[in-house]
Amino acid sequence: MANPSIHSNRKYLVTGGCGFIGSNLARTLAEAGAQVIAVDNTQSGVAENLHGSEVQFTAADVTDARNWAPGGSLSHLNDIPWDAIFHHGDITDPRHGDDEKVYQRNTSGFQNVLDLALKRQCRLVFASTAGLYGNGPVPMREDQPNHILTAYGKSKEEMERRAVAAGTRIPVIGLRYFNVYGPREGHKGRAASMIFHLFHQMTAGKNPRLFEFGEQKRDFVYVKDIVSANLCALTAPSGIYNVGSGVAEEFNAVVAALNTALGTDLETEFFKMPYDPATYQMNTHAEMSKARNQLGFSPQWSLQAGVMDYVHWLQAANNQSGVSRSL
Ligand SMILES: NC(=O)c1ccc[n+]([C@@H]2O[C@H](COP(=O)([O-])OP(=O)(O)OC[C@H]3O[C@@H](n4cnc5c(N)ncnc54)[C@H](O)[C@@H]3O)[C@@H](O)[C@H]2O)c1
Repeated sequence: MANPSIHSNRKYLVTGGCGFIGSNLARTLAEAGAQVIAVDNTQSGVAENLHGSEVQFTAADVTDARNWAPGGSLSHLNDIPWDAIFHHGDITDPRHGDDEKVYQRNTSGFQNVLDLALKRQCRLVFASTAGLYGNGPVPMREDQPNHILTAYGKSKEEMERRAVAAGTRIPVIGLRYFNVYGPREGHKGRAASMIFHLFHQMTAGKNPRLFEFGEQKRDFVYVKDIVSANLCALTAPSGIYNVGSGVAEEFNAVVAALNTALGTDLETEFFKMPYDPATYQMNTHAEMSKARNQLGFSPQWSLQAGVMDYVHWLQAANNQSGVSRSL
């Protein structure tokens, strides 16, 4: 998407730049001619997500204060006049298993990046999550009470709290992503989107498998829309914004979209949901008026169009050698 905020002389830092969303964003910024440095500890993401791009990659951990100190692997970032910093370098699996680690690492990494933005007096855009809404009422509005289900959600809530406090000194924009899917998510394994997993089941000729009876709903948002929202955040006022498609779709609709995109007619097999319903979001749906009016973001991709585009990408990647890890 063309964006007047990106110019060839702009400098952007993308943490988590080898990850799913970070790599798509970093590539888009670099394709527009900006200078982009991606920092990633490759705990989850993979450097090949940046292959073929002009993005510069620094391998480092943003949570380790020693890396930011003089002589550390990230110390040079303190001297660059950033136009904006995009922070996506987190532990991203909501079912990680070590709650203390998720909370500590996500909040300390965020604090280090926030300190850099404050030092440089530059704009900070960071990834929050619709997980904060838990099983709260739908459509979900930014001003409704949080309903935290996981340590991951707790870490994002704390990041938002610090962001709001800092947002009077520099522009700080938190984007509450809903369920993101699209190219370059394969490294996430079980935490990759259900669209990714169902694609692989269905292209292997297996019936798609869903929790009984596929009526759970999600606001699925295509990663190209997520990148657009980040670009909108380059000019938006400080705040916390929903970034979804604005539509809640049943899991059954995902299978239908995949059957259409693949030209198949595979029947769904249902199985009992293995998760505790108390900690599982049964229905997410973004209320998008704040994002539309203040962030200037309008989602462009329906589930059906996004799945079609993504399936074409996955099929093309499958047909190329040496890209299997991008799947
Ligand atoms: N994908 C979604 O549906 C979704 C939904 C809501 C929020 N988010 C948020 O979006 C952001 C990006 O998520 P993603 O889906 O691209 O996941 P991802 O796991 O692909 O990306 C995260 C990246 O950060 C890197 N990383 C982790 N800890 C780091 C550290 N300490 N130092 C440096 N790099 C580190 C990982 O190696 C990985 O490349 C995260 O903040 C996540 O919480 C994603």
